[in-house]
Amino acid sequence: MATQADVVAALRSVQFPGIDRDIVTLGYVKDVTESAGRFRVRVELSPTASTAADAIDASIRNALERAEIPYELELKTQKPAAPAAAAPSAGDSDPLAHVPFKIAVSSGKGGVGKSTVAVNLAVALAKQGLRTGLLDTDIYGPSIPLMMGLEDSQPLLDEENNRLIPLERYEVKNISIGYLVDRHTPVIWRGPMIGKAIDQLMRDVDWSDIDVLLFDLPPGTGDIQISLAQKVVLSGAVVVTTPQDVALIDAAKGVEMFRKTDVPILGIVENMSFFACPHCGERTDIFGSGGGEKEANRMDVPFLGRIPLEPSIRIGGDEGRPIVVREPESAAARAFLDVAASLAASLQMSR
Ligand SMILES: Nc1ncnc2c1ncn2[C@@H]1O[C@H](COP(=O)(O)OP(=O)(O)O)[C@@H](O)[C@H]1O
Ligand SMILES: [Mg+2]
Repeated sequence: MATQADVVAALRSVQFPGIDRDIVTLGYVKDVTESAGRFRVRVELSPTASTAADAIDASIRNALERAEIPYELELKTQKPAAPAAAAPSAGDSDPLAHVPFKIAVSSGKGGVGKSTVAVNLAVALAKQGLRTGLLDTDIYGPSIPLMMGLEDSQPLLDEENNRLIPLERYEVKNISIGYLVDRHTPVIWRGPMIGKAIDQLMRDVDWSDIDVLLFDLPPGTGDIQISLAQKVVLSGAVVVTTPQDVALIDAAKGVEMFRKTDVPILGIVENMSFFACPHCGERTDIFGSGGGEKEANRMDVPFLGRIPLEPSIRIGGDEGRPIVVREPESAAARAFLDVAASLAASLQMSR
């Protein structure tokens, strides 16, 4: 007789259409219960995945029948949050209302690789043909200029419209406070100035003609995060974590914060997940591995993938040539490209 593990194994063979991830990993399977030899499988898709519902329904039935498992399937699609409810104070005043997809890349803790993930995801999305923008909201420690190889650049002013033209690199339009202040002079920001600076990076920059805008956030759950969620209607947030417990606890806080502001969680990315020895290929779980996926399951949010701990990722950042540009065929680059593909698929982003 089949066991619950057999059912989960069968469900793991069901891929989300178009991407290399299964519905269990993505967190769509909510419940498997058994009664009198029949398994009740409860699957819940995020609103953005709804157009794939029929295909997923058919593949689940297929997989369970192939495994000869008696089942009952309940497949639901969550209702999208009404845009007004998604960001109570954004509403009509959203300065970026014309940008179809707006994604916050956040983390509870600093140094987990949020900016690295934001930059590589942005370039990966651009490679998929999406017109992509990247907005650095980390006013205290902007890293986009360095990571994009644009440290000594400055944006031009479109005088007619009195707006800044974002810089463009690797087909990603990007802006950062780092382009606007002298990087050798530490800037002391006071609360109201921060809100104003972020506002300007949204309003006074020409963000026309883009499909998706990524926001690289500072660490934590502070003012910038909350004010962003209030100013624009975000499509959702990607939470970056490393596998250590401390980072996971902070990631959970980050997820909670976005939930409170009604911003959908698009998923968790586990960065610095494992180290693959360049000589023998053996994988070492330096900080432990799999914590991100477990935490994603526990919090009932999709898991978007693991990025290895890899010196060339850091070097790419320091040199201003993101790994997806520098070594597009490497396992590390492929990990980023995969996460980008999952994200694009789950949001049904297309041009
Ligand atoms: N997967 C990785 N492998 C190796 N180094 C990484 C990886 N991710 C990030 N780093 C490095 O770790 C440091 C912190 O990353 P960063 O993206 O600036 O973090 P955050 O934005 O969360 O503060 C940087 O030097 C970066 O190059
Ligand atoms: Mg950063």
